[in-house]
Amino acid sequence: MKIVACNSNRPMSEAIAAYLNLPMTKASVRRFSDMECFVEIQENVRGEDVFIIQSTSYPANDHLMELLVALDAVRRGSASRITAVMPYFGYARQDRKSGPRTPISAKLVANLITVAGADRVLTMDLHAGQIQGFFDIPLDNLFSAPVFIRHIEENFAKEDLIMVSPDVGGVVRARAFAKRLETDLAIIDKRRERAGVSEVMHIIGDVKDRTCVLVDDIVDSGGTLCNAAEALMNAGAKSVHAYITHGVLSGGAVSRVSSSPLESMVITDSILGTEAVRVAGNIKQISVAPLIGEAIERISDARSVSSLFD
Ligand code: R5P
Repeated sequence: MKIVACNSNRPMSEAIAAYLNLPMTKASVRRFSDMECFVEIQENVRGEDVFIIQSTSYPANDHLMELLVALDAVRRGSASRITAVMPYFGYARQDRKSGPRTPISAKLVANLITVAGADRVLTMDLHAGQIQGFFDIPLDNLFSAPVFIRHIEENFAKEDLIMVSPDVGGVVRARAFAKRLETDLAIIDKRRERAGVSEVMHIIGDVKDRTCVLVDDIVDSGGTLCNAAEALMNAGAKSVHAYITHGVLSGGAVSRVSSSPLESMVITDSILGTEAVRVAGNIKQISVAPLIGEAIERISDARSVSSLFD
C-alpha cells in the first residue's frame, strides 16, 4: 500500500500515514511559474495499491487539478489500483441543474476523477448521498457521526439536549443523531433567496430552555448557522452549539461564527483549518484521520468498511 499526499491538507495526510504506520510516498506536487500543476512520484508504485489524499477545498480548482494530475502520474506509473481519498468532496452542492442552461458540476468532477485514473473513491459525508451514482466506480462514503456523537456524549448532559437541523435538507442527518442520542429533534425552515444568503423562517419544535445542537455537513459563509443560532436563542434556547463536518468557512465566515450566539462549533479536519480557525474561541477541530486511516486499511485488505458504523 502507498500513501500519496497532495497539498490541500498535509497534516491530515501525515496523521493518516501515522495511523497506518506507513511512510508517505515520496512525491513532489508543485507549480510551474504560470501556475500549471506538476506532480512527480519519486518512488516506484508499479503494482501497488495507491491512495492519493486530497480534499478539493479552497482554492478548489487548484486542488482539484492537483488531484487529477496526481492520478494521472500514478496511473502512468503502473499502480495496480488507485483510490482517490477525498475527505472533502467539493463541487458536491452543484448536484443538479438549478436552472435552465446550468451545469451539473458534481457529475463533471466525477467524470474527471474517473478519466484521470481513479479506480475507486473514498470520501466522507457527501453533501448528497446520490452523488455516489455519478461515479461508475466504487465509492465509499464515510460518516463523521460516530466521532461527533462520542464528543456530544462526553460534553453534554442528555436531559435538555435537542438536535436541530438548520434546514429541511438536513433532517435525515439530524434525525439520525437524535435517534442515536435519544433526544428530541427540531427543524429550521430556511429559505435561500440567492446563493450565499440564507434567511430563517420558522422553527419546527419547542426549543425553549433547551441546549440546542445544530448538525450539518458544510459551513461555508456561516449564514445558515449564525441565522439558525440567532433564531434559536430568540425562541428561548438555553445555548446553541454546532457540529459540522466540513469547515469550508469562506470569506468572513470565521468572524461571523465568532461573533454569533453560537457557544461552540465543532468541525472535522477534512479541510485544513486556517490560522483564524485555530485562534477562534468558539471553534474546535477534531480529527477524522483515524477513521479515514482505518477505512483505507480495510479497503486495502478487502474487509468491510460499512461495519465501521455498526
Ligand atoms: C446546504 O444545503 C448545506 O447543507 C449547508 O447548510 C450550506 O452549504 C451552508 O452554507 P452557508 O454556511 O454558506 O450558509
